[in-house]
Amino acid sequence: MSSFASSDLSPTDTYKLLTGLVVPRPIGWIGTVDAQGRPNVAPYSFFNAVSGNPPTVLYSAGMGSQGSKDSLANAIETGEFTCNMVGMAVAEGMNSSSAELPHGESEFDFAGLTPEPSLDVKAPRVAEAAASFECRLSQTIDIGDPVANVVVFGEVVRFHVDDAILDGTRIDFEGLDAVGRLAGNWYATTRERFELIRPS
Ligand SMILES: Cc1cc2nc3c(=O)[nH]c(=O)nc-3n(C[C@H](O)[C@H](O)[C@H](O)COP(=O)(O)O)c2cc1C
Repeated sequence: MSSFASSDLSPTDTYKLLTGLVVPRPIGWIGTVDAQGRPNVAPYSFFNAVSGNPPTVLYSAGMGSQGSKDSLANAIETGEFTCNMVGMAVAEGMNSSSAELPHGESEFDFAGLTPEPSLDVKAPRVAEAAASFECRLSQTIDIGDPVANVVVFGEVVRFHVDDAILDGTRIDFEGLDAVGRLAGNWYATTRERFELIRPS
């Protein structure tokens, strides 16, 4: 067993250990608009659901040399975002939408995706996704000094789910066909599943 003190590791090695070990990570495909209403979409695998009531999700945007990513700047500017689920059918589109385009240029167009108007927020959804959440930003938390990441929390105000994968409020995992991120360019499907009965 090897052990590493984080303080001895380079940022790259730290990131490789963390993202190689915390797998598979769900992918939040975040839709936003800027103040001019220009749409933006990008995937975030520092993403999860963290509360059922109020229903809350979070994603964490890294602060690169260019400063704030558009998904972060837009969510803070408008107080809203959407979170779209990534199934196998849209995996390539999700990956294309991670292109770092100049601010204001739409990854929807670049990745051949369709922005679908939301009902309760201005941020668009990804029409091709089997499920989406409309979210209102509830808080942000800065990580690191200087700030390395900003975690964005959003309350889900509306769920959209393709009827083909819905039975009441139960989701058909097979139909959702969710994709998770492993390290680097690797992904995993949820096609092999098993059940464990919890102890009483
Ligand atoms: C599967 C996947 C997951 C990603 N996860 C993150 C993440 O959690 N945080 C982050 O800052 N960037 C992440 N990225 C990179 C962003 O998607 C990329 O920087 C994108 O251009 C940001 O777009 P934006 O400036 O429009 O927000 C990820 C990329 C991929 C392909």
